[in-house]
Amino acid sequence: MRGKLMIGNWKMNGSLAANASLLTDLLADSVDVYCRSAVCVPSLYLAQMQSLLTGTSIALGAQDVSAHEDGAYTGEVSATMLRDFAVRYCIVGHSERRQYHAESDMLVASKAQRALAAGITPIVCVGESLAEREAGQTEVVVKRQLAAVIHANGHCISEIVVAYEPVWAIGTGLTATPEQAQKVHAVLRAQLQVATAHADRVSILYGGSMNAANAADLLAQTDVDGGLIGGAALKAPDFLSMLKTASR
Ligand code: PGA
Repeated sequence: MRGKLMIGNWKMNGSLAANASLLTDLLADSVDVYCRSAVCVPSLYLAQMQSLLTGTSIALGAQDVSAHEDGAYTGEVSATMLRDFAVRYCIVGHSERRQYHAESDMLVASKAQRALAAGITPIVCVGESLAEREAGQTEVVVKRQLAAVIHANGHCISEIVVAYEPVWAIGTGLTATPEQAQKVHAVLRAQLQVATAHADRVSILYGGSMNAANAADLLAQTDVDGGLIGGAALKAPDFLSMLKTASR
């Protein structure tokens, strides 16, 4: 059994004071939370969050990593640097990075490779835009995005986490229906099965306006193994409610 995995993606939100307060509220009510969980925080706050999360059941995650090992790459953060702060997960290929930083499938695959080499689990995001969905391209797009990562990381592909995040659902309040999510998750699972005998170990998360009200129905789907949660992860009562739903 994979067990559920719930990840909060804080994006570019927070401050020293706000992070500490959010964490205090999350930890104050963690009875009935048994699922695996993590928060992916801005790099600047990794040190703060490392010390606040030590000894808790919430793991630490980053939101991006450089595709390079080290050297003259101003502004970038390497996988080994993340490892210094006990980072366990790292999002790669989030649609906001693909869109605003022109990240290609190949670059995302290299980032996943760097994370794996440093012992960090990459959370590989895939997802179609609204135009692609309407053109009937959903499966082609997500399979192309995942294929690049499989190609670059074949031998250890069962060590990744995949997040299906339809771009039209991110931060919009529109959510894929449980059936729409399951359909794409099943496609991704089948693609992983061709690449590895251990595809059943790979957690495939859903992301895109997941919230306390819709989490149960999404998480009830066979191939939905958890969530990558943006906005709702910034509100302690909402995130806690989702962690508890995932723990049932
Ligand atoms: P959202 O973001 O939950 O606010 O839609 C999810 C994500 O982008 O990871």
